[in-house]
Amino acid sequence: MATLVNGTQVEVVQGDITRERVDAIVNAANRSLLGGGGVDGAIHRAGGPAILEACRKLNGCDTGEAKITTGGNLPAKYVIHTVGPVYRDGNHGEPALLASCYRRSLEVALENAVQSIAFPAISCGVYGYPHGDAAAIAVKTVKDFLNECEGLTLVRFVLFGRDIYDVFNNALARSTSEPS
Ligand code: AR6
Repeated sequence: MATLVNGTQVEVVQGDITRERVDAIVNAANRSLLGGGGVDGAIHRAGGPAILEACRKLNGCDTGEAKITTGGNLPAKYVIHTVGPVYRDGNHGEPALLASCYRRSLEVALENAVQSIAFPAISCGVYGYPHGDAAAIAVKTVKDFLNECEGLTLVRFVLFGRDIYDVFNNALARSTSEPS
């Protein structure tokens, strides 16, 4: 599914984010920024050692924050590393922290003249965020940002599995049928 938000294309696709030909891909990292499993592991494997080398100089990253590095050997020029919240019960600040990941990643993107950006489903793997709630936050935060700030041409959500792809697709479809 795809829609225009204030002139920016917003899309949901199924696939491997490491193959995305966009200016920046977002990594669902941990606070060390020194690698891990899931999408983090896939990005470091595909992008090569230059990403880890750049991450070592960043002194980690707080939950809800975002920091940028080279994309190394990836098709994307940059990786924006953000740290999602570990989901406990939804009453420990998780929604605000997850929204902050999307917002701060978009702010860092604009600061670096990024025009096209791809997001994975931050916190939706080992960090355990319920997919429906996470998708609603992702879509709302991105749309709110695009309605406030200009400069991006494309925001793409890249979901690995069919089920989570359907969840994000439905969240975007629902948001387009509601007044913003
Ligand atoms: N392309 C797109 N999405 C992917 C890919 C890929 N190549 N690989 C996995 N996903 P997770 P988190 C999906 O666990 O929950 C790491 O160890 C995956 O199916 O990668 O934020 C970090 O170092 C899921 O839907 O991230 C942290 O320690 C989504 O990406 C911790 O995991 C996010 O799953 C972060 O946990």
